[in-house]
Amino acid sequence: MEEKRKREEGRKRRTLSRRELFPLAGKVAVGAAGLSVVTAGGLALGCGSDDGDDTSAAGGETKAATSASTASEWPWPYETLDADASMPIAYENWFEKFCCYATVSGIVEQLRKSVGEPYVSWPMDSTKWGHGGAVGWGTLCGTLTGAGIVTGLVAGEEGEDILNDVIAWYTTTELPIYQPPEPKAQITSTSRSDSPLCHVSVGKWMKKEGVKFFSDPRKDRCARLSADVSAKTIELLNQWIAGSYTPTAPSQIKKNEVQMPAQDNCTECHGDSVPASPGI
Ligand code: HEC
Repeated sequence: MEEKRKREEGRKRRTLSRRELFPLAGKVAVGAAGLSVVTAGGLALGCGSDDGDDTSAAGGETKAATSASTASEWPWPYETLDADASMPIAYENWFEKFCCYATVSGIVEQLRKSVGEPYVSWPMDSTKWGHGGAVGWGTLCGTLTGAGIVTGLVAGEEGEDILNDVIAWYTTTELPIYQPPEPKAQITSTSRSDSPLCHVSVGKWMKKEGVKFFSDPRKDRCARLSADVSAKTIELLNQWIAGSYTPTAPSQIKKNEVQMPAQDNCTECHGDSVPASPGI
C-alpha cells in the first residue's frame, strides 16, 4: 500500500529537466569574484594570533614561543605548509585511525611543528569518528570531514569556501592520485565519485577494482585518498594565507533549481525524474 501510494505521489510530482537542474551554473564567476573580497579581508584574521600574548608557550622553543595562541582564540594560526610532506603522514596514519584522522594528521602534525600551540595539545584522536562516513554510516567521506575540521579551525568562516572547493574537486577528480613509495597493497584503479558520500565514492571504486570493502587494496585506496585530500586542503590553505585564494565552486544550495542541500549526481539516485522542490 505504502509503496503504491508513494509511486502515485511520485508520478504527480513535477520533475526537472536536465537544463533546469543547474540554471545558475554560468554565474559562478561572478560569485567567485565577490567572495574573493571577503577572503582578502579575512587574511588579517589568519595572522591575527601573532599578538605577543604567548604566555601559554612558557618555556617553548623556536616558533611556538613567538606565535603561540590559546585554543579559545579562533581561528587558529596557520603557516604555509608543504603539501607533498602531508601525503606520507596521512597515508601512514590511515592505518592507525582511518580516513578522517589521517587527513587531519597530514596537516596538523606539520602545524604542531611549525606553529606549536594550540595544535600540540589539541586531541587529534577526537577526529577518528569520521571514518566510514561517520562511524560507518556512509555519509560524508571521512577525508572531507577531516578537511572541514581543519579548515574550520584554521580559516574560520572562510574555511567554508575552502571546504566547498575541496569537496567539488574531490567529486570530479580521478582518485586516488598519491603513489606511496612503499605501498601496503597494490591497487590498479582510480575512480571519479561524482559524490562526496563515502558509500558512493568507495562503492564505485570497489566495483571498478573488483574488491570487497574489507580487503587490503580497498584500505590502501582510502589511505591514499586521505593523502590526496590532505595535500589538496593544504594547497588551498596556502593560497588563502598568501592572499591569492579565490573560491571557485558555487554554493551547492543556491546553484540548484531546487534550492536545497544536494549533491550534483541527481539522476544517480532519482533516475530520470528528478523532483522539483516542494513549494517552488
Ligand atoms: C544520494 C542520493 C540523492 C542525490 C544525489 C539527490 N537526491 Fe534528491 N532525494 C533523495 C532521496 C532519497 C530523497 C527523499 C525523498 C524521496 O523519496 O523522493 C530526495 C528528495 C529530494 C527532493 C524533495 C522532494 C521530493 O520529491 O522528494 C528534491 C526536490 C530532490 N531530492 C531533488 C534533487 C536534486 C535536484 C538533486 C541534484 C541536484 C538531488 N535531489 C540529488 C536522494 C538523492
